[in-house]
Amino acid sequence: MKMTRRSFCTGLSAASLMRPALAQGLPLLTAQETMVQLAPDSYPATPVWSYDGTIPGPALRLPQASRLERRLVNAMEVPTTIHWHGIRIDNAMDGVAGLTQDAVPPGQSFHYAFDLPDAGTYWYHAHTNSMEQVARGLSGALIVEEATPPDVDRDEVLMIDDWLIDPETGLFVDSFASPMARSHGGRIGNLVGVNGRYDYRLSARQNERLRLRLINSANAQIFGLRLEGLTGWTVALDGMPLAQPEAVTGTLVLAPAQRIDLIVDVTAEEGAAAGILFAAGDDSWQALAEITVTARAATKSRGAPAPLPPNPRMEINGVDAAPVLDMPLQGGAMRGLKNTLFNGQAMGWQELVQKGQFWALAGQAGLGEAPFTTLSRGETARIRMKNDTMFPHAMHLHGMHFRVRKEDGALGPLRDTVLVMPNETTEITFLADNPGKWLLHCHMLGHAASGMTNWIMVA
Ligand code: C2O
Ligand code: CU
Repeated sequence: MKMTRRSFCTGLSAASLMRPALAQGLPLLTAQETMVQLAPDSYPATPVWSYDGTIPGPALRLPQASRLERRLVNAMEVPTTIHWHGIRIDNAMDGVAGLTQDAVPPGQSFHYAFDLPDAGTYWYHAHTNSMEQVARGLSGALIVEEATPPDVDRDEVLMIDDWLIDPETGLFVDSFASPMARSHGGRIGNLVGVNGRYDYRLSARQNERLRLRLINSANAQIFGLRLEGLTGWTVALDGMPLAQPEAVTGTLVLAPAQRIDLIVDVTAEEGAAAGILFAAGDDSWQALAEITVTARAATKSRGAPAPLPPNPRMEINGVDAAPVLDMPLQGGAMRGLKNTLFNGQAMGWQELVQKGQFWALAGQAGLGEAPFTTLSRGETARIRMKNDTMFPHAMHLHGMHFRVRKEDGALGPLRDTVLVMPNETTEITFLADNPGKWLLHCHMLGHAASGMTNWIMVA
């Protein structure tokens, strides 16, 4: 067959889409299909959806107070958007299809440009049909660096994910919208990995000090984590620095979408076991990230680290005087729903199930015309979430960070995603200082897609 010029020009290739945008000098982020070896080498490779052809997508690192600019190029066959999770962002750049922008159709692009007010560990992921798109690989780390970084020997991002793969074919198990998973705990993988590797490892020297940025990008899995051969301190949660580093003693809990920044000293001797373990389903602890200890870096470790420099606007004032809004978490398997609003109509459980809705927030499944509440800019808000379901939920607020308010009025650390266990009541409080339409939803992505998503308005 004679190769014609035309054969190079057909189809929707990432390369052809890139040319016009490159001409404008904009850095790109291309959502595209690609093959990646997720399973061990003796298994087939997996067709994934990725940013720039890697799982996870490229780790974006920018200085605090700079501006992030990326043109999302959609080289896939489905519409998509990007949400910049945890960034106190300009609402128009929040990436929520149907609320803050239209989804970007195949072959089209969208220019994201926004300021980065806060240093810390954030991430980006698809926010159009996210229960499928994120499970297929559309996520990456977004690191905003402090002007004066902490005194560590190395800074490592550990993006923790799980994948549900058929070992025979290497394909993702095609049950992204499985009603069974959505009405229970969500899609849980059969392979857990870090940075796209099931056998992720690092090497370090004894007494080296590392900053480990843990990100849970799994659809639904809550990770219980332990340190081995390391002495560690938690220095930030969901990007935001803690006032004081906290020594890690027991198990760290990392719910979907949450981040923990650790500073760890490698205490294990050369050749001894070191790394991070996770609690596997069968009650055993398995290696998540192994650290090979090579030699000694210093004669002794350095003692507790200093706190990270605070971000701007971390205070929430007037909490006790603020009114409390109730948002019970409802529904799911073994509980069901009665008289729940969906698309403006009251429905019973059977009807909701037929429509793929299993959950509700305060009597409503999914987004309504009206927001859950309208707050005036600068107002202090309190939302009380009582978990009336049989399952834990990782509740995430877009656009603003919140603190958990304990019953005695004490405020927890500033964060953007909180795990609410069954029968637990968690009250969050935040300063509504970012105008726009912001989602409040469960980050178990199958739950979010089947009722556990609402929105608030800051006017
Ligand atoms: Cu991480 Cu609504 O998102
Ligand atoms: Cu949930």
